[in-house]
Amino acid sequence: MDTVETQSHLTTIQQNDPRLRRHVAVDVAVIGAGCVGLTTAACLAHLGHRVRCSDIDAERVARLAAGELDFVEEGLDQLVQEHVALGSLSFGRDNAWAVGNAEFTFLCLPTPETPDGRPDLVEHVVTEIGPHLVQDSILVTRSTVPVGSTEVIQRLLGRPDVAVVSNPEFLREGAAVEDFLQPHRVVIGSDDEGAAMRLASIFSPLSAPLIITDPRTAEMTKYAANAFLATKVSFVNAIAALCDVVGADIRQVTRGLGLDPRIGPAFLTPGPGWGGPCLAKDIASLVRTAEGAGVDFSLLREAVAINEKQVGRVVDKVLHLAGGSIAERRVAMWGVTFKAGTSDRRHSPAVELAARFANLGASVSVYDPTLGSSLSGMHTAADPYAACDGAAVLVVATEWPEFQTLDFDKVGMLMKRRCVVDARNLLDPVAMKRAGFAYEGIGIP
Ligand code: UDX
Repeated sequence: MDTVETQSHLTTIQQNDPRLRRHVAVDVAVIGAGCVGLTTAACLAHLGHRVRCSDIDAERVARLAAGELDFVEEGLDQLVQEHVALGSLSFGRDNAWAVGNAEFTFLCLPTPETPDGRPDLVEHVVTEIGPHLVQDSILVTRSTVPVGSTEVIQRLLGRPDVAVVSNPEFLREGAAVEDFLQPHRVVIGSDDEGAAMRLASIFSPLSAPLIITDPRTAEMTKYAANAFLATKVSFVNAIAALCDVVGADIRQVTRGLGLDPRIGPAFLTPGPGWGGPCLAKDIASLVRTAEGAGVDFSLLREAVAINEKQVGRVVDKVLHLAGGSIAERRVAMWGVTFKAGTSDRRHSPAVELAARFANLGASVSVYDPTLGSSLSGMHTAADPYAACDGAAVLVVATEWPEFQTLDFDKVGMLMKRRCVVDARNLLDPVAMKRAGFAYEGIGIP
């Protein structure tokens, strides 16, 4: 850890700063073996710690103990297998077993939207593990929890010897291992500087700015990051919609935008809208927090409204290319996950697109590299070509790079009509037109 940023100032500290304990292997518990929990567990084992990870799903635990994951996450299966074999990472169903000798316990539980915005599951588990936590250990909230939750959990825990510390994760699905091991920042929120520095020590092999602050600021940092990312994508989708009408090219516009260091090139690709398990939930939670605090955050509500319209824009493009109707016609769809690099279909715009096509009377044939079994209500193709067989229009819904290098002559021969709506601007429009396709991207004239 190179630098420490505290609430009031930024200081550069040396490895031998007395506030940072030397890197030593410690016992860690991780509660929850989803993407965030499993990545946290495997990466902490990779940093030399001894990790016990618990999950209520017995089947998942059995598979993990054999080194098998039930979702796609680049590099994570190798890390899990390596550390299970070394004995530095183990899995079980019992939370009390996991926390039994842990100096640090990480809560990595889902925090679904509840009517009152409370992290129900987290609170339930805190009550359960409270009596089992080791004397003077640290409980870390890594799940995204509403602002103020860390303090609520501290009170609920009823253990003055155990500090509850906020340490939000900033892990992208599909790049979670990279984001853990090469973070852009580590944020730790605690009113107890000693506890914060103890937690910082376990990340000390990582080279990243460390922000130590109070719990509410740490929690808000996570919400602000996700809200900003969603707003950035909604903004670029709105500009792309305008490009469509005025005949400008979003690819050049975003290049011009992204070269400005105040804006940056990331998160400027238009698409069918942002999805996934986190953004929608976190933004809804932040809007609720703002409403509860009497603060008008209409900007965020508008970012959500723009996103909700985006799938409809893609449907309109499909109807336009299909001559007004897709009833009783086949629509081929490439990709069902909410983005490439993951098998996650939660809040996936692709799933929403397929449902809209089906409602319009089309038979939908989908291909996705992560789809093992069939999806209800849709024909699932074994490969991208098979999905196109007899299709009136092809829709690229997820940006899997392998779609770029397919034989488009073969695709065209299989289709009834050579029409493609590229909802990810993944394909080369010039090459597609050369292959005889009517092509529509997002914001491409
Ligand atoms: C997000 C945050 O990035 C991560 O820090 C947080 O911890 C969890 O939520 P994730 O949900 O994995 O990560 O996806 P992300 O890569 O952020 O993409 C979110 C959505 O935006 C996806 O649907 C993606 O397709 C879309 N997106 C992203 C675009 O449409 N265009 C872009 O340029 C970037």
